[in-house]
Amino acid sequence: MRTDSRREGPIITLDGPAGSGKSSTAKAVAKRLGFRHLDSGALYRALTLGLLRSSVEEADWENLSEQGFTNLDINLETSENGFQVLIRGKAVDSELRTPEVTDRVSFVASLPASRQSILGLQRKAGEDGGLVADGRDMGTVVFPHAELKIYLIADLEERAMRRLREMGGDSPDDLGLAQQARALDTRDRSDSQRTISPLKKAEDAIELDTTELAFEEQVQAIADLAHQLTLL
Ligand code: DC
Repeated sequence: MRTDSRREGPIITLDGPAGSGKSSTAKAVAKRLGFRHLDSGALYRALTLGLLRSSVEEADWENLSEQGFTNLDINLETSENGFQVLIRGKAVDSELRTPEVTDRVSFVASLPASRQSILGLQRKAGEDGGLVADGRDMGTVVFPHAELKIYLIADLEERAMRRLREMGGDSPDDLGLAQQARALDTRDRSDSQRTISPLKKAEDAIELDTTELAFEEQVQAIADLAHQLTLL
């Protein structure tokens, strides 16, 4: 455990595959504990949106240097409960979740230069502690000294169902469910098989299977772990 005098509280990381409920869970856990929430996926989405808005041809994205990504001017501004993502000084939210961005973000996140360009930004968000950070490499790469690391998993079909409900479909049909499951599976494969910072469980992470858990139960389970470890 780190004893950094500037820390106001521990860092809790939540990693796991797409649709495992990381972001909504991390947000709710942070609120309950009075911590900030960092959604690192939003940063990769911002890089992707920044590229789509730029004059760089999509075929050239893979050749960009770290400086090329830094020039997209992605930043984080402290907000009441966490961080607001900015592109060129302007707040971005729902624009980060369009299909254009979602279809390309995994590729952008697989590029070493893109990952390097936002590493410092993410670590800075944690420098005072009191943070719940969610993503794919929070416990393995960005915050290897985090006091509590959670690896969230859930069955593919359950994740697809949750994702569809999030998108407003109350009773998705079988075809919609199968399509969503395939899309999540494709993204997971890409995120797990890349060579840099792949999606994987940190050795010291606690695995939490949320397939059978209601949202409130998974939030409570993580808050309980934080209490058990006397982190609070
Ligand atoms: O959590 P999300 O769906 O918003 O993440 C978007 C993409 O970014 C996803 O394909 C994986 C990638 N990502 C990553 O590689 N590392 C992170 N720490 C967070 C997200």
